[in-house]
Amino acid sequence: MKKTVLVTGGAGFIGANFVHLLAKKEDEWRIINIDKLTYAGNLKNISGIAEGKNYRFVKGDICDAEMIDKLFAEERIDMVVHFAAESHVDRSIVGPAAFIQTNIIGTFTLLEAARKNWLADDGQGRECCFLHVSTDEVYGSLGDTGFFTEQTAYDPRSPYSSSKASSDHLASAYFHTYGLPVRITNCSNNYGPYQFPEKLIPLIFNNALSGRPLPVYGDGRNVRDWLYVEDHCQAIEQVLRKGVNGEKYNIGGNNEKQNIDVVHTVCDLLDEKIGPLADGSPRRTLVTHVKDRLGHDRRYAIDAAKIGRQLGWQPEVSFEQGIDRTIDWYLANRQWVDEIVSGEYQHYYQKMYA
Ligand code: NAD
Ligand code: DAU
Repeated sequence: MKKTVLVTGGAGFIGANFVHLLAKKEDEWRIINIDKLTYAGNLKNISGIAEGKNYRFVKGDICDAEMIDKLFAEERIDMVVHFAAESHVDRSIVGPAAFIQTNIIGTFTLLEAARKNWLADDGQGRECCFLHVSTDEVYGSLGDTGFFTEQTAYDPRSPYSSSKASSDHLASAYFHTYGLPVRITNCSNNYGPYQFPEKLIPLIFNNALSGRPLPVYGDGRNVRDWLYVEDHCQAIEQVLRKGVNGEKYNIGGNNEKQNIDVVHTVCDLLDEKIGPLADGSPRRTLVTHVKDRLGHDRRYAIDAAKIGRQLGWQPEVSFEQGIDRTIDWYLANRQWVDEIVSGEYQHYYQKMYA
């Protein structure tokens, strides 16, 4: 039977990719997408998906308990996939308040609504699931070796990661205390279409395209484990379909890269696809080492063996394929980036990098 899924933050980067994935399977999923449309939410990310019996968009704030309760009353929501968040570490350093509000209070508000509506249900064996989408950053920072497993103790270091850790603990508490059917995923760095150009890969793309300096924090040797966004979305679908309530699943790409290598790859691909800079120099020459991020986590690496073993998920897209597709998407959608960087984002950009 068709399930009604409440997707939060479905106008953002990963949420929009997830909505596109489910919308292709209209016999199985009905989607309600709630998004506040902050600076990071963009209706153009989901412009191809028509309002109708299988899809409804609601502009709203997940911290608004009255509105969330009304939504649960209007719709028979079977599942929640909770993406909505303030997601950018640098912004959390400059202004943590919004992170506390959305990531902690917003998650609490949704958990309360699910508790009230699901646990007071008709008792006819309704299968519900609250999938809380989180990050590997809750585990802190690794040295040169080792991986984050589901047993790794939480050690968040930034206002962003501590707000996410807090929301993970709340979600987990609602399972243990009330029996709410909660599942948690902790994923590594995503990249791909619709990523807001404040994050490393689209920011480097955009600057490299127009010959501007490429800001690399510190020595550029920090390591992230990159996962193509469609692989992440497929993992989430598997957790929805086959995951076990009360369980956590780490999701990662097995693609550890130093930042400087990622930046060089983006530069080289652009040189190859559209030619070098106007003066004939390769785009790598634009790399500019800038002051390091405060409390910059050195290395993240995910052990994703559990989700592979228990749910049969594996990433399908290699970094080489994924980054090639990503650069092609950004080249074909330059207007999407231009509209963002010429608006509100531009002020932020100037403040951060001027
Ligand atoms: P994003 O910033 O691109 O999108 C966030 C979306 O949430 C936006 O559409 C925004 O409008 C919406 N939103 C923000 N506050 C809201 C509120 N109060 N009410 C309703 N909507 C609100 O983020 P993303 O990169 O797509 O990340 C999505 C989720 O995945 C987040 O929870 C993030 O912590 C997690 N995550 C992201 C990554 C990554 O690499 N991007 C990796 C692991 C986990
Ligand atoms: O690990 C998962 C996390 O990945 C998610 O939870 C976050 O929501 C997501 O934003 C991402 O966090 P990061 O801080 O790792 O991503 P970001 O793209 O901001 O930075 C990636 C790396 O690149 C990091 O080491 C900082 C560095 N960096 C970033 C920017 C924006 C630079 O060197 N220069 C830059 O201009």
